[in-house]
Amino acid sequence: MNSFQDREYTVCILGAGVMGTAVLSAILKSEFTPYPKGFICCTGSEESAIRVKHAFPNVDTSFGGNNDKAVSQSDVVILGCKPFMCEKILESVKTSIEGKLLISLAAGWTIDQLQKYSTRVARVMTNTPAKFGYGMAVISLNEGAEPDRELIEKLINPVGKAIFLPEKNMDAATSLVGSGPAFCLLMMESLIDGGVRMGIPYAAAKECAAKVMEGTARMVIETGDHPAVLKSAVCTPGGTTIGGLMVMEDKGLRSAIARGVEEAAVIAAQLGKK
Ligand SMILES: NC(=O)c1ccc[n+]([C@@H]2O[C@H](COP(=O)([O-])OP(=O)(O)OC[C@H]3O[C@@H](n4cnc5c(N)ncnc54)[C@H](OP(=O)(O)O)[C@@H]3O)[C@@H](O)[C@H]2O)c1
Repeated sequence: MNSFQDREYTVCILGAGVMGTAVLSAILKSEFTPYPKGFICCTGSEESAIRVKHAFPNVDTSFGGNNDKAVSQSDVVILGCKPFMCEKILESVKTSIEGKLLISLAAGWTIDQLQKYSTRVARVMTNTPAKFGYGMAVISLNEGAEPDRELIEKLINPVGKAIFLPEKNMDAATSLVGSGPAFCLLMMESLIDGGVRMGIPYAAAKECAAKVMEGTARMVIETGDHPAVLKSAVCTPGGTTIGGLMVMEDKGLRSAIARGVEEAAVIAAQLGKK
């Protein structure tokens, strides 16, 4: 049974930076039940707390040494601090966080490490497009959080789309989902460069490249087809597309991207380690 089904609950964003506020912003734009009765955002500095309050006037803020009080007043804690800060911050709320639902956004921090602080743990990897509702999130749960699976999905799905995967896939998800936008942006820059090189004004080339990537992604999502099938449909025999693709394959583009994803996952695996 969902432990939040019949009661009100408050969500604490412990580390309300880029990712913490992206998730908050997505939740605030969505409707679901049971909906949180309130939010408390924690930051390190007063300046950041003011910034958060300015962006989200209806949310409570807390900074500096007040994490323990904020966590005590909450039922769900979304951990949004940098991986190297997690231990210090979790130690500072060690007593108040016990038994609360802990949803961690931190790269590299394993369920095993997080379980030291709460029996109910979800590990989430999402990305910056979450801020616009076009994010992706991969979620892994421990056994203690299983009863809250549905609520966790409701809280995280507003970032765009959330799926559950076993924790063994989390380092790969950190690369593919967390770093993925940077990889796509590099590809987008390359498309723009190609257009500009042949005389298309930069602003127009940027608009064309962004829409091409958006439209292509939508085509894959809506048809469910393998990318190779859709790609083949664009290749007229003897035509321009197959010519361009062959040069890209000659230059090793496919393996450069796939190996880049692999390398980022190797680095991700080291993040939670001392
Ligand atoms: N950025 C990405 O693209 C991305 C993608 C996927 C996953 N992630 C994960 O998301 C997590 C957060 O990354 P981010 O980029 O959002 O970092 P960020 O913008 O630097 O946010 C960190 C937040 O933690 C706050 N903080 C620092 N010390 C604190 C303390 N003692 N008590 C409470 N809050 C404190 C910071 O406040 P101040 O501003 O006052 O220091 C800031 O609000 C990381 O673990 C990262 O692995 C990030």
